[in-house]
Amino acid sequence: MNAVTLLKKDHRTVERLLERYRTATKSKRAIIDEITRELSAHMTAEERELYPVLRTAIENGPSLMNDAEKEHSEARGLLVELGALEDGSFEMDAKVATLRGAIAHHVEDEEGEIFPKAEQSLGKRALHELGARIARAKKSAPERPSRSAEKNSPGASVTGVASAAVDRIARMFGGTTAPRRATKRPSRIRRARKAATTRVKSRAAKRRVRAKAR
Ligand SMILES: [Fe+2]
Ligand SMILES: [Fe+2]
Repeated sequence: MNAVTLLKKDHRTVERLLERYRTATKSKRAIIDEITRELSAHMTAEERELYPVLRTAIENGPSLMNDAEKEHSEARGLLVELGALEDGSFEMDAKVATLRGAIAHHVEDEEGEIFPKAEQSLGKRALHELGARIARAKKSAPERPSRSAEKNSPGASVTGVASAAVDRIARMFGGTTAPRRATKRPSRIRRARKAATTRVKSRAAKRRVRAKAR
């Protein structure tokens, strides 16, 4: 099969699974596992067989491939995080929504720019050979990303902010979130008392300085 046809077919499969997740009311974990298997095989095959060829074959290849690989890393990070979340939890739904957005953007880049450029630069025969290699690579690809991929999740560098946002949204919808550590804020009375003490101390210090000067 032509490489582009095969990869587009994979994209539609993942989109169908994401849509099935969106409307599912139970067994969401099973759908996540299927999405993880499909995406892991697809991304590995692209990275092993397609991207190295396109790096040199298409215009702006290195930059386009770097971006595409970075987006794959982020998707793997999200998949690893999803693997650790409770089935049917609000956090799982929020993470899948992030994954859906990331995948939609990546697919748009591939189908809107990368694949058309590949079709222009490579002949039909090369695309068919590439398709066969991609199909083989998918069969030997890992079924899930390694746990170390988690650090590449888009939220990893702003975990605190992201989890706080998820917590906030979860509370709005009455969802369950992990207990948050209360931040101790000084009361108004304590703050006023502290300010008064500071003023008294600074007046005493001024008196001492004046006494020394005499
Ligand atoms: Fe793809
Ligand atoms: Fe891709």
